[in-house]
Amino acid sequence: MTYNSDKKLKTVLLAPDDKGIKKAAMLIKQEGLIAFPTETVYGLGADATNRNAVEKIYIAKARPQINPLIVHVRNEEEARSIGEIPAIMVQLIDKFWPGPLTLVIKKNSTSKLTKLLSSGLETVAIRNPSHLIAQKLLESFGGPIAAPSANLSGKISGTRASDVLEDLDGRIDGIINAGVCPIGIESTIVCATENKINILRPGAISYQQIVDIIGLENIKSASNYKNIESPGQLNSHYAPDSPLRLNALTPKPNEVFLSFGPLPLNTLGISLSEHFDITEVAVNLFSALHKVDSMAKTYNADGIAISPIPNTGIGYAINDRLKRAAYENSLM
Ligand code: TXA
Ligand code: MG
Repeated sequence: MTYNSDKKLKTVLLAPDDKGIKKAAMLIKQEGLIAFPTETVYGLGADATNRNAVEKIYIAKARPQINPLIVHVRNEEEARSIGEIPAIMVQLIDKFWPGPLTLVIKKNSTSKLTKLLSSGLETVAIRNPSHLIAQKLLESFGGPIAAPSANLSGKISGTRASDVLEDLDGRIDGIINAGVCPIGIESTIVCATENKINILRPGAISYQQIVDIIGLENIKSASNYKNIESPGQLNSHYAPDSPLRLNALTPKPNEVFLSFGPLPLNTLGISLSEHFDITEVAVNLFSALHKVDSMAKTYNADGIAISPIPNTGIGYAINDRLKRAAYENSLM
């Protein structure tokens, strides 16, 4: 294969205007890889019906092929042309689409998606993003776009073009630079089991928001909410290079600090939200992890310490990501 991570590509920066979006769609049609903004995190997009194109995603991200991809669609109708949407999911998509909700559904026999993206499963993960640029790109391309988060496998998801390029510059054909992703945490992934909703990955839409729409009685194993799993939800994920210490009230002398609330005086680090705003923590989290990771290297710090983050609302998904980011460290 000629397309691999050794071959340095020229990664073009595209503006989020009609010209940039048209060029991005054209590059995707030509089997290219384009990073683009969504309301959650940047996605790394390729033609979901083209095996060569999808294979390039796995190579560029160094992603194991056992980890299936999310397919982004223009609307519910396009989703229905790909898979069967169970009745129990309809209320959820009425409420949350377009938006950060991903459905895992059974594929239709007529689906044109390349099999490569579902890692041998009979199911496929689908979402209809609400970010205007993502919508325009899907419209301009005119078909489903496979897009995992735009980062190297196991590393931190990118919520700013500069963070995406840190991982993927030279490995992808282009990026539409549209600034900061407004939510900052990946979508919530659900499937339907025995006519109930099963949450496979906590995300931008909280557990409570889902309960409010479909009722507690329609959620599968709510008491087991802690045992959520998607095939790609490895224990160690979203990992910075430096060790990460969770629930730290204060940093140790040689640690960089990520604070919830104002950063204490004379402390090396970043505040995730000066005003204790959990939504702001979500927006800043991944990019702050990128920044403190480089601070830790520059100052030869022992590691990163992070304040406790409340477990309410989007805080549950934030804590899920933090636990995975700290996992390797906790084994040492
Ligand atoms: O917000 C998001 O979901 C972002 C943006 C770009 O849309 N995408 C994203 O994709 O987070 P990715 O590939 O980083 O995470 C997708 C997760 C993986 O854990 C994968 O294992 C799971 O979705 N997944 C994909 N297909 C699945 C399937 N058929 N069954 C269960 N889990 C699946
Ligand atoms: Mg990811």
